[in-house]
Amino acid sequence: MSTGVPVDWAELSPQLVDAARRDRAWYLTIARELVGPTDRLAVDVGCGAAGMALAMARMMACGRVVAVDAHPAVLDAARQHIHAQWSDPRVRVEPLRADIPADTAALREMLGAPADLIWASASVHHVGDQQAAVTALAGLLTPGGRLALAEGGLPERNLPWDLGLGEPGLEGRLHAAQDQWFARMRADLPGSRRMPYGWTEALRRAGLSPVTTRTTLDEQPPPLPDSARRAVLADLHGRVDRLRPTGLISAADLDAWDRLLDPGDGQWLGHRADLFRLGARSVHVGVRP
Ligand SMILES: C[S@@+](CC[C@H](N)C(=O)[O-])C[C@H]1O[C@@H](n2cnc3c(N)ncnc32)[C@H](O)[C@@H]1O
Repeated sequence: MSTGVPVDWAELSPQLVDAARRDRAWYLTIARELVGPTDRLAVDVGCGAAGMALAMARMMACGRVVAVDAHPAVLDAARQHIHAQWSDPRVRVEPLRADIPADTAALREMLGAPADLIWASASVHHVGDQQAAVTALAGLLTPGGRLALAEGGLPERNLPWDLGLGEPGLEGRLHAAQDQWFARMRADLPGSRRMPYGWTEALRRAGLSPVTTRTTLDEQPPPLPDSARRAVLADLHGRVDRLRPTGLISAADLDAWDRLLDPGDGQWLGHRADLFRLGARSVHVGVRP
């Protein structure tokens, strides 16, 4: 029996587009560090709305960036985003459907050459056998090529500990529920296998060396500008709605969330000037010898 709620990527596509827009500056910072001056082929695996594919393209003098995703609705969103954002003929940005690691051989053929840089953000953790995915991606690299995994870090915090409604620590309990949801989601994936070690070790076991990690702080102190406050509220809405049918949030906490997220309620979070954004994102990079 299924114990979790499967991810509906078609339904999530608009959120992936919002995330690609919101994370544009972060993508550009990381792409500036990762893309080398002679790189000609970069791949964004599990690309979502192709935000990083576009950032890598902006850092390349010429060549191709291939935005790969397994899910057609997501790839449509990526295609539209690329079409709206990219017109420089020196670097082609191409959406491509492939399921990692099942379609690795087909992907190798479609790429037509070994990759200089492969980026995978929050996508490998949706694959049943994460080590198999990391090893498959490492095998697509040219010698000296880099595999960058944006995974882990610290979940973003947005709220004061005591909101004056319900029990204090509401946001911490939401994170704990999300952790449980994540465990169920992983257990339900086809061919699910535990990976009882960290991402740097996964890169090493894929034959990559050296392996390094860079973590960036994601911080916006209060008061948030309207756009950031709207994004925080939309994100909290999405997370609470995703967890609602799972039974992982108590009825009392759900009542509190429903009031905090209701614009018609006096306790609506949108009225507060003390929302903030504080998180950390890690990128683990392994080099093919
Ligand atoms: C959480 S989203 C991350 C999107 C984007 N990389 C980002 O960081 O915003 C995970 C993405 O991985 C894709 N995905 C999930 N499983 C995949 C697989 N086996 N092969 C390729 N893409 C996959 C999903 O369709 C989705 O676009």
